Amino acid sequence: MTSNTSVRAGEDLLNASLQKVEALLTATYTDHPLESHVNAMCMHVISAGGKRMRPRLVLLSALALPNFNADNDLDNICHIAAAIELLHTATLVHDDVIDKAPLRRGQPTLNDTDGNHAAVLAGDYLFTRCFDLLQKPRNFDIITELSRTLRQLVVGELYQLEHEGDVNLSLDTYYETIYHKTGVLFELAAASPAITLEQYYDFIAPLKEFGRKLGIAFQIKDDMLDYTADSSTLGKDAGTDLNDQRITLPVLMALRHLEQSDPQGKEQLLQAIKEAQLEPVLQAIAATNALEECEKQAQQACDEAIASLAVLPPSEFKEALISLCHKALQRQN
Ligand code: IPE
Ligand code: IPE
Ligand code: MG
Ligand code: MG
Repeated sequence: MTSNTSVRAGEDLLNASLQKVEALLTATYTDHPLESHVNAMCMHVISAGGKRMRPRLVLLSALALPNFNADNDLDNICHIAAAIELLHTATLVHDDVIDKAPLRRGQPTLNDTDGNHAAVLAGDYLFTRCFDLLQKPRNFDIITELSRTLRQLVVGELYQLEHEGDVNLSLDTYYETIYHKTGVLFELAAASPAITLEQYYDFIAPLKEFGRKLGIAFQIKDDMLDYTADSSTLGKDAGTDLNDQRITLPVLMALRHLEQSDPQGKEQLLQAIKEAQLEPVLQAIAATNALEECEKQAQQACDEAIASLAVLPPSEFKEALISLCHKALQRQN
């Protein structure tokens, strides 16, 4: 086989697997009459799309393992990829209730169309679908890890809540928060194939490191986009972090800069944050080059992620994992 043909075969395998994941995401929705409303709500969120970053990460991390046996193991890996996407989707549905968000994936949120009560229950229902999919691989380790991940996600959300409006937030606390709210799920996604397949146990730690760093870069970018993008490109409302008094990296960097250069400007920024006035906050972010600093930190996390892939042999799938890191930073939504 020429290398071009093998690259084509690799792409075909990845695309076929992604299609399988899509089928699993929707196939779980049976038409039991009592479940039709909740099924319709879940389908609304799932079929709105989303970037499917986490399932792609699961599949590529599996395919990049040396001598990965697709014939034997890919089906189980697709089930895990779909389960992780459903876990993510469930947390988004709940997050939108908490944030009172009207828009997600370019569509009205369930809290908007069906109210908070029904939306919370739809999120719970998505968790059960996630657990159903995890039965297939018959692997206790992945169930244990998924449960730990969910626990950390919850802890991260509470940690964030406790620090709402905390303009003295330390950089360490910010990083701790984004690791818990986003890094943990990327960590699980990247390491899940190695967790499930005994012969790859040595790859668990470096792949977790890869996922953790990628997740952190991804969330820094999310926090930047919240200040820079418009809602129609994002598919969700921009500017919500300031409205919800979530202190994120762009603001933290602006505050730090002003602390040194312009104490009076810092006081004005603090006041604007407190009053959630987007315009002056955006001006301070621009004047202090805070976004360039965010970009640098996201790039560093990305570089560290890529460095931890050194354990993997060269392959097109490893290259695809590397380009996933670049895409996480270049994305506009
Ligand atoms: C949104 O995740 C929540 C964050 C961790 C920032 P995504 O940006 O991956 O959302 P979808 O799945 O593409 O909608
Ligand atoms: C990620 O954080 C949410 C979850 C971990 C569920 P955000 O609150 O920043 O996510 P978006 O911006 O609403 O997508
Ligand atoms: Mg939110
Ligand atoms: Mg956000």
